[in-house]
Amino acid sequence: MKPGIYKDKRSFNFREGKKLSLTLKPKHQNTKTIMEASQQYIQANKDRFLDELFELLRIPSISADPAYKGEVQKTADLVAEHLRKAGADAVEVLPTGGHPMVYGEKMIDPALPTVLVYGHYDVQPADPIELWTNPAFEPIVRKTDLHPDGAIFARGACDDKGQMYMHVKAFEAMMKSGELPCNVKFMIEGEEEVGSENLGDFLEANKEKLAADIILVSDTGMLANDVPSITTGLRGLSYVEVELTGPNRDLHSGLYGGCVANPINILTKMIASLHDDQQHITIPGFYDKVEELSAAERAEMAKAPFSEKSYCEALDIDAVYGEEGYSTMERGSIRPTLDVNGIWGGYIGEGAKTVIASKAYAKISMRLVPHQMPDEITELFQKHFEQIAPKGTRVKVTPHHGGEPVVTPIDSLAYQAASDAYEKTFGKKPIPVRSGGSIPIVALFEKVLGLKTILMGFGLDSDAIHSPNEHFGLFNYYKGIETIPYFYKYFVEKTKK
Ligand code: BES
Ligand code: MN
Ligand code: MN
Repeated sequence: MKPGIYKDKRSFNFREGKKLSLTLKPKHQNTKTIMEASQQYIQANKDRFLDELFELLRIPSISADPAYKGEVQKTADLVAEHLRKAGADAVEVLPTGGHPMVYGEKMIDPALPTVLVYGHYDVQPADPIELWTNPAFEPIVRKTDLHPDGAIFARGACDDKGQMYMHVKAFEAMMKSGELPCNVKFMIEGEEEVGSENLGDFLEANKEKLAADIILVSDTGMLANDVPSITTGLRGLSYVEVELTGPNRDLHSGLYGGCVANPINILTKMIASLHDDQQHITIPGFYDKVEELSAAERAEMAKAPFSEKSYCEALDIDAVYGEEGYSTMERGSIRPTLDVNGIWGGYIGEGAKTVIASKAYAKISMRLVPHQMPDEITELFQKHFEQIAPKGTRVKVTPHHGGEPVVTPIDSLAYQAASDAYEKTFGKKPIPVRSGGSIPIVALFEKVLGLKTILMGFGLDSDAIHSPNEHFGLFNYYKGIETIPYFYKYFVEKTKK
């Protein structure tokens, strides 16, 4: 198949269910505005902006795998070099307990506000690599139904190298055009995909260096290319690994079958019991702190475009599945969930081996909504899981990284500035939406630095982040670079008043 005409079946637009029109015209197109020189600079340098992103995408900065430590470091160095070239001062690649942090800043006047940009240059592993149409670290541009202008296919294209790099290029455009309206600091980390374990310490140790007025992050999505939206909430996360032990060694399933607890039989039964028939989670106390949204709030949420038919088509499923009493959009954002992410044990090689395994394992994630604290939920899970394990088995629960949920206000000056910026470049006011994903450090920013975050994402849910064939629309990449300077402009204007 020719690359130019490849169509990705998974990229249906379930947010609208009809053909996209990409002829969005920015408002007031012909009026002179500040940032005009920056916008011209962006148009004149588009091709280079794409080449540079490709260079970043070619380095497999997989933070989870120690074999790629050198590649992660190389990526940090390249990000630092580009920050310097874009015009940042004091650029450093700072060591942490794990992968390095890239820092850079441009302080033009202490009396002006400071925007702290956060992003991550590390990526998820590319597995299963055989499902990639094109190798994960050899970026190419290909068209899809949702991205008729083409999309960049590569691991990290959307999450988060592409979105992080939009900020570097928007900054370059403002710098080279003499239009940077305030101070800016960059903090680009290399271990977001493994839980940002060293970021808390880094924030504590660098409070002064990181002093700012607002944090700006592009690591989320929007509803559709013609339905701009701003993320106003993220779910929290509690992640546990469970190990269930039966007999002290693997046993012959003929000699011992039927006589001892089979850890795989039992573990799957225990896991199945964590949801009831209405798909509510059965862990006692799990919902105690969950806030029920008012009918008015839910009605507001339901206004966002969503087509269940297109959603199902895109995923090749004949029905959605989830908690009774809630819509798909609600299930994926304002409701907590529990999902097995991996399960293993016993014999999985060629042919049949008759064996009862000594142990069975699973990795389980729980997505949390406001007021559910990850440590409390992990404890409730542990207590319950130990309690439901039958005699003849032993259970071990190991907590992994977690993170607190966040909701961001929509009446702040920063939100208004972001909203105006989208309206300027998309010609439409963005819709506020709560996302189902997690960025645990957003809660930390507020706790440690006392700063609110604006989540200006430009990806689409259908961009396959963490999956094979991750991609990021060219439209989205450039729209992001064009929109960011307006956020700076409006934020400075609004905070002046
Ligand atoms: N950028 C994502 C989170 C995201 C994506 C939020 C889309 C909203 C919309 C981030 O890189 C991520 O993958 N987070 C992890 C959690 C982390 C602790 C590994 C997640 O949500 O699973
Ligand atoms: Mn991310
Ligand atoms: Mn991610």
